[in-house]
Amino acid sequence: MLERLKMMEQEALQALRSVRDVEALHAWDQAYLGKKGALTPFLRGLRDVSPEERPRVGQAVNQVKLALTAAFEAREAELKIAEQSASLAADAIDVTLPGRPPVIGRLHPSVQTLRRIYAIFADMGFQVYRAPDVESDELNFGLLNMPPHHPARDMWDTFYTTKAGVLLRTHTSPGQIRAMRQYCPQSIRVILPGMCYRYEQVTARSEMMFHQVEGLAVGKNITLTDLKGVMAEYARRMFGEGRQMRFRASYFPFTEPSVEVDMDCLLCGGAGCRVCKNTGWLEISGAGMVHPDVLRNGGYDPAVYSGFAFGMGVERPAMLMHAIDDIRLFFGNDLRFLEQF
Ligand code: DAH
Repeated sequence: MLERLKMMEQEALQALRSVRDVEALHAWDQAYLGKKGALTPFLRGLRDVSPEERPRVGQAVNQVKLALTAAFEAREAELKIAEQSASLAADAIDVTLPGRPPVIGRLHPSVQTLRRIYAIFADMGFQVYRAPDVESDELNFGLLNMPPHHPARDMWDTFYTTKAGVLLRTHTSPGQIRAMRQYCPQSIRVILPGMCYRYEQVTARSEMMFHQVEGLAVGKNITLTDLKGVMAEYARRMFGEGRQMRFRASYFPFTEPSVEVDMDCLLCGGAGCRVCKNTGWLEISGAGMVHPDVLRNGGYDPAVYSGFAFGMGVERPAMLMHAIDDIRLFFGNDLRFLEQF
């Protein structure tokens, strides 16, 4: 019996050495120390051992049990450490690796240009006034002196919605009516920036959506001279000192008189080039004195109040300043373009 006990112990210790994980360890425990394990028959067998031998054999069995238990515990501790260091190695962080740079977004070139415009007009006392992109036919046209079927509506190719009388604004001018109705009878100095939409052939020169900044000043004794001063100051701040200005007679239904504001060409200095179509001048804004009917539609008595208004593009000056030759780049969402600003 002692012989077999010794052999069983050897075998158990041998088997324990090849145990590699907790599961195998558990199986080993069952196989040797468990109720139905290899040690149990020896404990049971003690009954059959003669009384004089029993203490010696009993002690031997007990020693084996203690030895196996100790070996089991030692292996268990080893496995735990091995498991821990394996999991540490698996999610190891190499703190010496260079970090991944976070992707930094940037302002769209139109927004950068808009913000420069806001700053310039803010210095002249103009507040930003927001008006909606989806407008009524009445505000976009009717209240700006273009009743239904008025031929001047053809100046703007319009996106209509399926809802009668609702359209995408073709210009920021309807905001003038909104601002006047809100502030009447106080005097007003606002700019109205925003997106405009036109049902147009998209080319390098024209998009179907673009930004405009509308300007409106209403009060007592406002004259065309005020408009000229504001436009000249804007051009100087936006495009640099020494700008030449030119005001050409023009027509808009909502202004009387109406003008087209030109500035000497930035690229050729007035000599004539491709960008200014050899005229030496660049159009920077439509403008004029607010038409008496429009003042009335805004709630002001044209006998007492007068005002000037202007409406200018945003992408055009941005193109001039950054030498961008295709307006479609602005809303093409191509990062290779956008990341340059
Ligand atoms: N709304 C005009 C357009 O989109 C631009 C414009 C012209 C605005 C004259 C004005 C103005 O306020 O007075 O073409």
